[in-house]
Amino acid sequence: MPSSPLVTRRRMLAGSGLAVVAAALPPRRTHAASGDTGPDGFRIIRARPGAVKLRGPELSATPIWGYDGTVPGPLLRVKRGQEVKVRLVNDLSEPTVVHWHGLRLPNAMDGVPHLTQEPIAPGRSFDYRFVAPDAGTFWYHTHFRSSGQLGRGLYGALIVDEPEPVAVDRDVLLVLDDWRLSEAGAIDEASFGSAHDAAHAGRLGQYLTVNSLDTLDIPVRTNERLRLRLINAANARVMALRLDRHRAKIMAIDGQPSEPFDARDGRVTLGPGARTDLIVAATLEGGAKAPFVLEYGRGQELLVARLVYDAGPPLRPAPLGPPQPLPPNPLPERMDFVGAFRFEVPMDGGAMSAMMMGGMMGRGMMGPGAAPGAGGIDPRAGLFWALAGRSSTGHDGAPLFQVKRGRTVVLNLPNRTAFPHAMHIHGHHFRLLDRLDDGWKPYWLDTVLIQREQSARIAFVADNPGKWLIHCHMIEHMETGMAAWFEVT
Ligand code: C2O
Ligand code: CU
Repeated sequence: MPSSPLVTRRRMLAGSGLAVVAAALPPRRTHAASGDTGPDGFRIIRARPGAVKLRGPELSATPIWGYDGTVPGPLLRVKRGQEVKVRLVNDLSEPTVVHWHGLRLPNAMDGVPHLTQEPIAPGRSFDYRFVAPDAGTFWYHTHFRSSGQLGRGLYGALIVDEPEPVAVDRDVLLVLDDWRLSEAGAIDEASFGSAHDAAHAGRLGQYLTVNSLDTLDIPVRTNERLRLRLINAANARVMALRLDRHRAKIMAIDGQPSEPFDARDGRVTLGPGARTDLIVAATLEGGAKAPFVLEYGRGQELLVARLVYDAGPPLRPAPLGPPQPLPPNPLPERMDFVGAFRFEVPMDGGAMSAMMMGGMMGRGMMGPGAAPGAGGIDPRAGLFWALAGRSSTGHDGAPLFQVKRGRTVVLNLPNRTAFPHAMHIHGHHFRLLDRLDDGWKPYWLDTVLIQREQSARIAFVADNPGKWLIHCHMIEHMETGMAAWFEVT
């Protein structure tokens, strides 16, 4: 992958590090600073084509689809308990919707085509309006023909600020994506809908960006405390990241505060859709540079960003001590495991699976007249995966299960395929249970990465009425069968 000069700081959330912690916090704004707000207080966002210099400033721009024609789309920022009011205008040539990933919002605002709303036709608009119940790092993205629409750039970040400022000197957003580009820098559109990609790891790009930049320089001063907000916006790539020479604490996962714990050796892994908030003590000497890299393949790495230390004197004589946990969000405090609704949600199919290969070979490689394979997997119909024994793209068919509001739900998610999957649940955050039902990990998730032949058990309180998706966030898996919905009544 080519690398170009490391210049831009324009996506930085905060200004220069100031001497006083409180004064150095980023300004709090309602919604974004740019763009129109209608007289009724709705922030108008247009889904439309645009062009972005993904490969650095000196190479030609790539035609994309983006919110307000940019990637990432406008940064939306509210305080916890405030309303998000967005009027999405569709200036694309095909329908679209916006999903608010990780937001525990009313079902009608969830942005799932046919399940919670009709797709927004070209030239039409839809008003999204909901209270942001939790502080944290979230994102919004298309949920319609997602491989192509998300792959072309229809996503943005939504930051919900804590009720009281968090004691950090600098707050930096890093939205990571991979792009499949031609030599000329155009998005490889011919590969959208590729059956090969869908039946394997999903559509992976070869060109990595952070905030749509080739690389990002993050200016710091010695003894600053940084908050890094990482979002994996890629269609399918699992990102293993490493920050060298620094102590990094994981403070929040998928938007929700965790018990702070060390990112071992500065490493964090994000499946598609996932977020991690880190607090980093910037303890190197003035003038130092520390790489933040993506680890991939066999021992290869790629520069994503750098901490670039100011040559001047330290911000303060010594680094601050370990950070306090972030203030809790109003999540359910207990779960009723005795009365829980328990359900098996195995993942099946994909390349190298008996189900798919058997089906394909038994009828001469998708020949006409062949019956669908087990679980509805039918490569001929473009369905390669199954969830809980059925192959669906989400909104169709009957619910996987129905539960009464307030019930605890325990799902067992065995991955019986040859690929990892990032299972995501709408409208709820869940706990990852320890193996013997005797405890859970000290964090909440909305997306769990499950390696091949591993399983995960998760629990949540079904406290949000409506129809909710559960699907793999490897978008091409979702669109070829690994999706379903459940209903909270
Ligand atoms: Cu990021 Cu169904 O969502
Ligand atoms: Cu998957």
